Amino acid sequence: MNIALDIGTSNTSIFVSGGGVVLREPSVVALVSGKNKIRAVGFDAAEMQGLSPDNIDVITPVSESMICGTQRGTQAAVLMLRKFLEKITPSNALFYPRFRGVLASPSGIGGDERLRLEKICATAGIVDVAIVDGIILAALGANLPITKSFGGLIVDIGGGTTKIASLSMCNVLQGCVVSIGGDMMDKALGDLIESRFGCRIGINTLRRIKTEVGSLHANDTAHANIRGVDIENKELKTFVIGADDVAEACRGYYQKISDSIITVLNKCSPAVVAEVDKQGIYVVGGAASIKGLQKFMTDKLKINVTIPEDPHLATVIGAGKLLEQKELLGEMLRGRKK
Ligand SMILES: Nc1ncnc2c1ncn2[C@@H]1O[C@H](COP(=O)(O)OP(=O)(O)OP(=O)(O)O)[C@@H](O)[C@H]1O
Ligand SMILES: [Mg+2]
Repeated sequence: MNIALDIGTSNTSIFVSGGGVVLREPSVVALVSGKNKIRAVGFDAAEMQGLSPDNIDVITPVSESMICGTQRGTQAAVLMLRKFLEKITPSNALFYPRFRGVLASPSGIGGDERLRLEKICATAGIVDVAIVDGIILAALGANLPITKSFGGLIVDIGGGTTKIASLSMCNVLQGCVVSIGGDMMDKALGDLIESRFGCRIGINTLRRIKTEVGSLHANDTAHANIRGVDIENKELKTFVIGADDVAEACRGYYQKISDSIITVLNKCSPAVVAEVDKQGIYVVGGAASIKGLQKFMTDKLKINVTIPEDPHLATVIGAGKLLEQKELLGEMLRGRKK
């Protein structure tokens, strides 16, 4: 079975050749403490975050886009991946499939880290895996002309990190990885709610607020009634959160991302900057879904910003495209730095 994989800080996505994206679930696994026994994975495990008893460890095995190097983190990643592979195996399959395919890697990793990822995949049951820089895959998924002499300027705002790169002929010309992602914004929103409303709420409610009410548009009046636990008396109370609260918590991070894009542009040659100015900047990743980001960034950067449809799926779709384009995949593997 040919598959493409994006194991992100927040979400794992799997694309199956001929079937499209068949799985996208939180990169979370619940294990019995001290054992390799799975209690839940993905959405089910994410629901246990902050609620599990002492004998269950709810683990997020990916941090800042890297699978954790600790023994427990690696074990958790393998078990999570194996369970996801089981989930995508057709129930009527006569034999357990031999999985092979493409894995999106964190940007700029070296040979040792690639070997570690290959080993994790092999232990999880993927017999043959080609590891390709996720930011190039994200550009391919966003339909940028990555093989051309100027392949575009792409920004991927994920859960744990933001990746920025200018591309040329399947390689990164200039780029950086910034330790800012949607998870950091969740924390900032949680802190704002604590100080403004005196309430504490769970991680899943925080994420729901960002999706349902979040907006960077000035004067957006969207709001929602939220139930939380009063910090003082521990009683449940209802408060109203508005788009302006979410913007206040998150805006600074999107501003820092815009500043990092400018830093990358400043390192690019005048010819590349002229191309970026002509073609615009493409922004993908789950945290690119916040309302108003296109206008916010276009205003800050004074360059047209495009957020393609389904920005959260760009990387896995790009990896999926490579499953069908063996020549391009070979070119990428040959061309990359050792
Ligand atoms: N509508 C939305 N508004 C703001 N943030 C959002 C929205 N939808 C999803 N997100 C955020 O997007 C992030 C997940 O994005 P994505 O799935 O691209 O990350 P990832 O690939 O797992 O992480 P990384 O690439 O950093 O390893 C989460 O932090 C989530 O809260
Ligand atoms: Mg990602």
